[in-house]
Amino acid sequence: MIDSSFKPSVKPPVKAHFSRLRFGAALGVAVLTLGLGATQLKAATEQPLLADETSFDCLTAMTAVRGLFVDNLLGNLDATLAVANSAEGGQYPTGTVLQLVPTEVMVKQAPGTSPVTNDWEFFELAVSEAGSSIVSRGFTDVINRFGGNCFGCHVKAEPKWDFVCETGHGCEPLAFTREMIENAQNGDPRCKAPEEV
Ligand code: HEC
Repeated sequence: MIDSSFKPSVKPPVKAHFSRLRFGAALGVAVLTLGLGATQLKAATEQPLLADETSFDCLTAMTAVRGLFVDNLLGNLDATLAVANSAEGGQYPTGTVLQLVPTEVMVKQAPGTSPVTNDWEFFELAVSEAGSSIVSRGFTDVINRFGGNCFGCHVKAEPKWDFVCETGHGCEPLAFTREMIENAQNGDPRCKAPEEV
């Protein structure tokens, strides 16, 4: 038994060589994993998602541009308005908030957050006199209360309009008249009557 287990032949160096290789491979995987983890951590800490339920308030208190309302959560309203008012369209700056009706919002997140939606995040809100609550938020999978996928419709806007449909930008028109949309805008329960402010 002692003879068979004790074999100081050429084998130990070969084994050692193999184990060095395996150690090297394991180290490589570990470094790669750590590297990926660090990248994800970096992305998560450097680009926190903008907006929570306190980000949204009375629709008509936002800035009206044509039939919709705009704001910028980072205080960069001028940059948002520059794109909104441009006849050539353009890419909306980070922090942009767009609303047509009280319960549906688009927020422009930091560059690289969601390439497929050009960094737009879609929100479906529930609104009342008490304020807003977020029913759902996300990039490609948010459904409005009529069963429509926000991204599915807005992706049809021509690229220069940056997912903004309005009219004539390439999206299918909504099944609502302008009057119905204005009634929804003016009926936002979050807007207090002047005497309550
Ligand atoms: C059936 C297609 C469709 C669906 C589903 C849809 N939208 Fe829209 N949305 C439109 C169209 C078309 C307009 C422009 C309407 C107009 O100005 O007459 C619009 C307008 C808007 C606007 C104003 C800016 C713009 O693009 O004109 C916002 C913000 C918006 N939608 C957000 C959302 C969100 C958030 C959801 C999901 C919760 C959603 N939409 C679901 C088609 C859709």
